Amino acid sequence: MAKLEIITAPDPRLKQTCRPVERVDDAVRRLMDDMLETMYLATGIGLAAPQVGVLLRVIVVDVSKEGRESSPLKMANPKVVWRSDGLVRYEEGCLSVPDNFGEVERPERVRVGYLDRDGAAREDEFDGVLATCVQHEIDHLDGVLFVDHLSALKRNIIIRRLQKARRIKAAAE
Ligand code: NI
Repeated sequence: MAKLEIITAPDPRLKQTCRPVERVDDAVRRLMDDMLETMYLATGIGLAAPQVGVLLRVIVVDVSKEGRESSPLKMANPKVVWRSDGLVRYEEGCLSVPDNFGEVERPERVRVGYLDRDGAAREDEFDGVLATCVQHEIDHLDGVLFVDHLSALKRNIIIRRLQKARRIKAAAE
């Protein structure tokens, strides 16, 4: 497995609609495995392929707490096929929007269709933080970041902070 570079906003690759996986082959499996390792090393709970610069509909998620047995999900072409009317708010962050957080309201439960690591079609229902995380990652596949769910005011504050951080980093290099 290999550690991949995580790209951060603002970056045009994070605003693209990703193309579907045609077949879960060895290259897709390797991408899933590398993404999961990259996510663990960055102590994230989810990662979408565009965050490593690959514009394919692939996500990985693992919300298990540290010290507990991990239960990673690796999904190709994930799609929400049912969402609850009930909504829930969580404070979200993103490895591509480092050091910034915001409360986002989303359906509390979702049912998601996807292809697993073996290419088998599956459908699973998620709730709690797992439901939020899966929806956040699927958003990435359509070029949507959690900041796009915030008010324009909050979003602009975060974007300005990211641009400033980037200028400081560029000046230090
Ligand atoms: Ni994210």
